Amino acid sequence: MKLGLDDVVAAETVLSHVDGEAGRLIIRGHDLEELAGRLSYEETVAMLWDGLVPSFVDPRAVIGAARVRAFGHFAPLAPHLTGLTPVEGMRLLLAALPDAETDHASLAVGAAAVAAAMAVRGTKGLLPVAPDPLMGHAADLLRMLRGAPADQGEAEALDTYLVTVIDHGLNASTFTARIVASTEAGLLSSVVAGLCALKGPLHGGAPGPVLDMLDAIGSAENAEAWLDDAIGRGERLMGFGHRVYRVRDPRADVLKAAAGRLRGRDNRIAFAEAAEKVALKVLERRKPGRRLDTNVEFYTALLLEALGIPREGFTPLFAAGRTAGWVAHAIEQARTGRIIRPQSRYVGPWPAEAA
Ligand code: ACO
Repeated sequence: MKLGLDDVVAAETVLSHVDGEAGRLIIRGHDLEELAGRLSYEETVAMLWDGLVPSFVDPRAVIGAARVRAFGHFAPLAPHLTGLTPVEGMRLLLAALPDAETDHASLAVGAAAVAAAMAVRGTKGLLPVAPDPLMGHAADLLRMLRGAPADQGEAEALDTYLVTVIDHGLNASTFTARIVASTEAGLLSSVVAGLCALKGPLHGGAPGPVLDMLDAIGSAENAEAWLDDAIGRGERLMGFGHRVYRVRDPRADVLKAAAGRLRGRDNRIAFAEAAEKVALKVLERRKPGRRLDTNVEFYTALLLEALGIPREGFTPLFAAGRTAGWVAHAIEQARTGRIIRPQSRYVGPWPAEAA
């Protein structure tokens, strides 16, 4: 038995492939670097869903309309967000979508953006902002979150982020979504389940600690001594290392470039770039041969922070991007017509044999 199912192949997919040795993420035949910053999120969703969601012809218009449909369900729930964290609020909202709704695939993607924005605002006691179906998905998400329009550079940065996290092989939340789909529970249930799996700190709940580490380092001059001491204390440097990638996480480069374009507006990005260089040097010296490099979380944290998103809103934003992947995997799994039902090995006591 493999604890954690490491190396166990549990699905065949045409959607994405993670090559940990080569540091490549392939999405429907394209390297991530060919997509992020080139195709919009809506265009990438259309490409990911090709052959799976047949009616998806004008992705920007369909997802825009879906945001409006979702808001109709969510707006009355705004008072219930008080006292919840953003990810808890997002879970509450998505769980309220009725199966009786139509076109679940688009609805889920539209709803995830509306729910993320509403849930972040709700924790601050702010009223929800209604979607604008004519806007691009990322630009509207930022506007709904902040209550004011974002400029083009900011919208492009968020768009790149959403594309970067759209799908990533059979990670824990995607596997969860596929398991739920295999029972024919429906797409909306798969998405809620995916979010529940993503919520954990070992999966999607991690980018905040990168910022905590940068706060603690304080300045570029202090970086080497601080990072060296941290490793000496047996701590892990946040935003470095990955279970699958044994070289640089390709998503880190895409997000570094996108965050770099916001650099003039946020001094912390320049500081983080300097801290990253020092951290890689320290890791090579203190952990020789371990092949530790920057992972997706490092620049996710910086990019989302530069966009003014609070730390506890990072996981909902991740979920907003990943929802399209969960949907695609759920449809692909449901088409196999086979329920996922592995075995467990019983290691408990047996009943006493009858005398
Ligand atoms: N900083 C310092 N040392 C590290 C780090 C790190 N970030 N990551 C691994 N190491 C060291 C370990 O201490 C270990 O050293 P040792 O052999 O001297 O004991 C060696 O590298 C191998 O460690 P493993 O635990 O086997 O590495 P694994 O691949 O299982 O860990 C993980 C992957 C959990 C991501 C790890 O690198 C880590 O904790 N990173 C920091 C937290 C982080 O950035 N998480 C987000 C990951 S991205 C994502 O999940 C979407």
